[in-house]
Amino acid sequence: MIGTKMEAAFNEQIKEELASAYLYLSMAAYFHAQNLDGMAHWMHVQAHEEYEHAMKFFNHIIDRGGQVELAGLEKPKKVWDSPLSAFEEAYQHEQYVTGRINSLYKLAVSEEDYPALGLLQWFVDEQVEEEASVSKIVEQLKMIGNSGSGLIMLDSQLGKREE
Ligand code: FEO
Repeated sequence: MIGTKMEAAFNEQIKEELASAYLYLSMAAYFHAQNLDGMAHWMHVQAHEEYEHAMKFFNHIIDRGGQVELAGLEKPKKVWDSPLSAFEEAYQHEQYVTGRINSLYKLAVSEEDYPALGLLQWFVDEQVEEEASVSKIVEQLKMIGNSGSGLIMLDSQLGKREE
């Protein structure tokens, strides 16, 4: 049985993961509008991953006899100044999520909740990958600068991201 503190914190994290999915879906729409369909595809895949993250917390609560309580989502931003600023925001967002995962880990340690720690270790590792992949794209976009051909090449590469 999951404890009430951990249950509440995981319910909050379900919302955070779904809010991440919503943000990336909004970025996908922005990239489609910019005719950067590869970047849009990358964001669709990212949004789908975030949904799966939410489901990991959802299933964990259910499996441990807890109660899932979904919260409302805020309207996400829909326009960015440039592809670089969208990916920079995605990177900042992932750093924010990493902070949240670390706080959940601390709570699980203080609650001596070993099953929760097992789940959270997966997220600790996942956040290393998430930050690295977005940070790389930010750096590549900085190198590209105002080069239209560079942007199209990167767009094509990001369009190959697997589901
Ligand atoms: Fe669910 Fe991108 O972290």
